[in-house]
Amino acid sequence: MSWIAKLVEVPTYSSDSGSLAVVERSHSLPFDPVRAYFIFDVPNWSSRGFHAHKNLEQLMIAVAGSLSVLVDDGSVRREFELDSPSRGLLIGPGAWREMHRFAPGTICLVLASEKFDETDYIRDYQDFVSWRESNC
Ligand code: TYD
Repeated sequence: MSWIAKLVEVPTYSSDSGSLAVVERSHSLPFDPVRAYFIFDVPNWSSRGFHAHKNLEQLMIAVAGSLSVLVDDGSVRREFELDSPSRGLLIGPGAWREMHRFAPGTICLVLASEKFDETDYIRDYQDFVSWRESNC
């Protein structure tokens, strides 16, 4: 798997009065975010994702709780644990992702490089594999 997904540090400043984590344009965030959303209230029996994006880049951060993110480039699957607000998962274009094992109370913040566009989604796994074969 090339750079399609990688864990990045989120610089965090901690003191006796708590912690502050900063996300700004850098190697950890190689795009200007135009959209942010967060996923919460996910039952622990439930999973999300099950799609790829053709162009979108995203940075996911478990700002509370934890989850597991499976990333698939069409041939290799890798699982990443997100369990700290000080670590994010950068996901590039052309990556199938599944989000599993949400701990109770988890809030997953996502920063995205593009506005919402349903035509950028590939929601069928076989369509994704075919798209990878002809586009990557
Ligand atoms: P989806 O991306 O499929 O969520 P997940 O991968 O976490 O399961 O989005 C769920 C619904 O929310 C879908 O109906 C599209 C809608 N949606 C928006 O309208 N705007 C957005 O920015 C996002 C991310 C989703």
